[in-house]
Amino acid sequence: MYLQKRNRILRKSAAVRSLVAETTLNPGDFMAPLFIDEGENISTPILSMPGYYRNSLDLTIKEVKELSSMGIRSILLFVKAKDEVKDNTGKEAWNPDGLMQRSIRAIKDAVPDIVVMTDVALDPYSIYGHDGIVENGEILNDETVEALVKMSLSHAEAGVDFVAPSDMMDGRIYAIRKAFEENGFTRTGILSYSAKYASCFYGPFRDALDSAPGFGDKKTYQMDPANRKEALKEALADVEEGADIVMVKPAMAYLDIIREVKNAVNVPVSAYHVSGEYAMIKAAVQMGWLDENKAILESLTSIKRAGADLIATYFAKQAVELLD
Ligand code: PBG
Repeated sequence: MYLQKRNRILRKSAAVRSLVAETTLNPGDFMAPLFIDEGENISTPILSMPGYYRNSLDLTIKEVKELSSMGIRSILLFVKAKDEVKDNTGKEAWNPDGLMQRSIRAIKDAVPDIVVMTDVALDPYSIYGHDGIVENGEILNDETVEALVKMSLSHAEAGVDFVAPSDMMDGRIYAIRKAFEENGFTRTGILSYSAKYASCFYGPFRDALDSAPGFGDKKTYQMDPANRKEALKEALADVEEGADIVMVKPAMAYLDIIREVKNAVNVPVSAYHVSGEYAMIKAAVQMGWLDENKAILESLTSIKRAGADLIATYFAKQAVELLD
């Protein structure tokens, strides 16, 4: 057989494959999400996320030091608010001595180099488990944006590097950027969850923070999984409004969206490999149906290949260990 081209030549050995690999993962690609609890020396396993824990701040700081020593450059913080502080205004979200604000200060103090990002949305503080203020069963947009601005300012005050609004209200990026400018926070960035879909894959996360919506669902603010062009509209609007980084979420079921957004914007694109995506791999591994290490690296490589410059993933630490 005569062939003018033999494509298998570039696959013939591990060395050749690595020479021509188009996508390579680095520790600096990952953002490690961390769940923080009140108290001391507390580490609570999250049942639907095997191997993942909600830790008190002292243990979180230890973890951040370890992540940083492994080459991970950024963390994404979430806190579990106590039931007593939850209401329908979300005011605990901008308490200067709230768990989030204390965590930002303590972590930046202990590990100044780590890039600290914080989730901005009202759900952990809402008696209804919704990302915004509720009135007659509706999630109010403009009132919620005012609350998110206060929340973002309090994170900026505490020293956060990037706020990450995950609420999908209209106009919040513009409002937060304007408030940062007006208050002298000219070095605080915004990573916008721009194309965040109303996804069932957030289920385990809501177990972790006890933040599942008390009524209805999030479909009046998070996006319809059926839509692609709408993701571009959201991402382009957020860039226009002042987002430094945009995000697509979830990741694996939305690789097409990651690519579309990557091609459309001139800012870095991140993707969130969410809790349910983590849980699916862990569950199949527990059943003995998937090779865990291979599943992790293949998933993360696919997300990066799709166009993600940054990946938020509960596998950050495991992935870095595998890359070594
Ligand atoms: C809060 C928020 C959610 C996630 C990140 N920020 C849950 C939700 O919107 O219901 C999901 C993360 C994950 O599933 O890993 N607004």
